[in-house]
Amino acid sequence: MIISVTNLKGGVGKTIVSQNIAVCLAMQDYSVCLIDTDTNQNSVSWAGMRDEDLSPIVTVGITDPKALTKEAKKLNEKFDFIVIDGTPSLSQMTTRIILLADLLIIPILAAANDLRAMPQFMDRLDEAKGFRDEIPAYFFLNQFQSYAHQNTVAEVLYDFEIPFLKTKFRNRVAFGEASAMGSGAAEWSDSKAKSEANMLAHEILSKIKELKLVPNG
Ligand SMILES: Nc1ncnc2c1ncn2[C@@H]1O[C@H](COP(=O)(O)OP(=O)(O)OP(=O)(O)O)[C@@H](O)[C@H]1O
Ligand SMILES: [Mg+2]
Repeated sequence: MIISVTNLKGGVGKTIVSQNIAVCLAMQDYSVCLIDTDTNQNSVSWAGMRDEDLSPIVTVGITDPKALTKEAKKLNEKFDFIVIDGTPSLSQMTTRIILLADLLIIPILAAANDLRAMPQFMDRLDEAKGFRDEIPAYFFLNQFQSYAHQNTVAEVLYDFEIPFLKTKFRNRVAFGEASAMGSGAAEWSDSKAKSEANMLAHEILSKIKELKLVPNG
């Protein structure tokens, strides 16, 4: 099962969301492989800082589009879950990340002026849909601040007909702090961030059940 976390916009939380999904699934004893497709290799460095006592997450950096498709398919046979941390580039990479996804999570910041790249992203999604019809996709509100913001965002994104996950991450220092130490919020001391991370994993697992997708293994 491949969960791709992507959006063309930089700094929307692709890495934070990928790491947190990977951690929560690993804590539930699923075997998890995190693929870092960004040239900055943030998640690869993150994995290098993970404490040995924490749930294992095999993390690999793959920045070549062709290698990604080949390797992700191979790894998908070995792990229950592959989580792909996307790159903010308009390259072929994004189309490949979308095409590989059994479930696509699109993190967005709850501010309308952060949505300018969304039409280009949707072009990528449409392009991918030319190869594969059904790509279950959900928007995920990151750094959520208020329902007023959320409503504006929902209006702007209405035409795209992609549902929102119910779970949101608020703007919490703990997400950044945990990540900087090779952890997920579920492994950190802030109970609210921990609870949001666990809720996200829980919601993703229910969507997987609803969509009748089954983890490998
Ligand atoms: N919910 C949150 N609360 C507080 N800080 C956050 C939250 N989500 C992300 N951040 C911080 O915002 C910054 C951008 O997040 P992140 O690196 O996950 O985005 P990205 O989409 O992967 O960026 P890039 O496109 O550069 O790879 C980071 O410093 C991260 O720690
Ligand atoms: Mg990133």
